[in-house]
Amino acid sequence: MAEVPIITIDGPSGSGKGTIARRVADALGWHLLDSGALYRLVAHAGHLRGLHPADEPGHARLAETLDASFETTADGGERVLLDGRDVTAAIRTEACGGGASRVAAMPAVRAALLERQRAFARPPGLVADGRDMGTVVFPGAALKIFLTASAEERARRRYKQLKDKGSSASLAALSLEIAERDRRDASRPISPLRPADDAVIVDSTSMSVDAVVARVLELADQARLAAH
Ligand code: C5P
Repeated sequence: MAEVPIITIDGPSGSGKGTIARRVADALGWHLLDSGALYRLVAHAGHLRGLHPADEPGHARLAETLDASFETTADGGERVLLDGRDVTAAIRTEACGGGASRVAAMPAVRAALLERQRAFARPPGLVADGRDMGTVVFPGAALKIFLTASAEERARRRYKQLKDKGSSASLAALSLEIAERDRRDASRPISPLRPADDAVIVDSTSMSVDAVVARVLELADQARLAAH
């Protein structure tokens, strides 16, 4: 792991981590870890199997045995497969996000996903997106970004994303959902959402996607990562 250069991008829901991480990985030609998708897959698989939402050992077993794969679509998007079936849309719902944040508070689930996440670190490099990439999963990462935006702006972005996909959504309900998820992610005893001590905080509230990508690539350059 030590030789593979890693950039971690952590931050709250709706801060734009997913988009930024993918763009940075593409620009550098590196691999991408969407760790939130793993928690979403555990929640989704548990739901499909009728597990009780509070069944920690059951969800931990699912996390250990999860048959998950990630593909890049022709338009540069992500396709997520569970047991060979396309679950991309199913795991992106707000309900699944809520379920993910509940299973993510279970220590046995986090432990079961740890090595699976570390296995994504392969040459020439990895961009890892999540909540605890810089603090727990890749504490030795060469560059750690903590991406934030105001809660209002994050709810607005999520609203636009859902509308663009043709899903119905209410801005007020989304704001509440995001606030609740932030609270749960930041207050859980294990791997709470917080910037690593050596993270660079980037507030994207009034920045465009292009500007954030440029900033991260500039930081990667300064950390002499871009040459890899
Ligand atoms: O990033 P995304 O919204 O897909 O993550 C879904 C949920 O998974 C988050 O709300 C969080 O509770 C959990 N998560 C986590 N640690 C990560 C990534 C996601 O706890 N590294």
